[in-house]
Amino acid sequence: MRESRVGRIRKAVIPAAGMGTRLLPATKALPKELLPLIDVPVIQLAVDDAVQSGMDDVLVIVSRGKELLADHFDRQPDLEALLAARGKTAALEAVRSTGAGAALHYTRQPEPKGLGHAILMARHHVGSDPFAVMLPDDVMLGPRPILAQLEDCWEPGRSVVAVMPVPRAEAFRYGIVTPAGEKRGAAFPVEDIVEKPAVSEVSGDMAWAVMGRYLLDADMFGVLEHVAPGAGGEIQLTDGLRAMAHAGRLTAVAYEGERFDVGDKLGYIKAVISYGLYRPDFAPDLKRYLADLAQRGTF
Ligand code: G1P
Repeated sequence: MRESRVGRIRKAVIPAAGMGTRLLPATKALPKELLPLIDVPVIQLAVDDAVQSGMDDVLVIVSRGKELLADHFDRQPDLEALLAARGKTAALEAVRSTGAGAALHYTRQPEPKGLGHAILMARHHVGSDPFAVMLPDDVMLGPRPILAQLEDCWEPGRSVVAVMPVPRAEAFRYGIVTPAGEKRGAAFPVEDIVEKPAVSEVSGDMAWAVMGRYLLDADMFGVLEHVAPGAGGEIQLTDGLRAMAHAGRLTAVAYEGERFDVGDKLGYIKAVISYGLYRPDFAPDLKRYLADLAQRGTF
């Protein structure tokens, strides 16, 4: 059974226009967002998180060669009829429930100009509503849907970023936030945010790193329109968030859960194993197998 709740934020945007060069050759013909954790493509995990967080409208930003993403979420009457006729009820339910609970929409980013630019492609669809952004490479497994955790700390007019602490040496991989005040529960106000800072720019042993879940005020579109290309020559969402932070309108939430970067090969392996352990249908056998490997001294 799906857990569902009615959220105050109803729209989610999933940027899925990136090339997936870190996972070649697997992503030569297959969009990286369709790489599965066991039997569920990573983009479906993101859509499920949106639905379980109370959102019912998901816009996927695609690019050339990403047509299979829409195919995955379409109904397939022939396949459904075949599975029904053969009494394969579990498979039928799995096929039918793909993307259930949300209206899925697709729009294209005509050229790769960065995450901020991809999000600008959502402007017409989103209008003046607050909206969520989910980076599908960041797989999140938590005790509660991640966007719902962010929304608990959201106030109208503000934007929210999901954060977790990382060692200083890892900070160059992420957007890094500087707190403006004390943490209250899971949330704290943000004074500044910088995209992929050099180690020398980070003080302290640990840094608060942004993970790929955001709640954005629609004002972000007007901000991003005027953002100049930043890190990597791309229009960075982080630079738009920076304007929000400087205006005192950005909150960071240290969410409960794990995060895996499935755009990275080792991250992908870890995600598959952890997702297997998280799934009741695999956990007992997988635990036994891992214990057996450890005992044999395989690692
Ligand atoms: C993006 C964001 C970065 C964030 C990261 C999380 O970077 O620009 O701020 O910390 O996602 O995964 P990317 O990994 O796409 O380079």
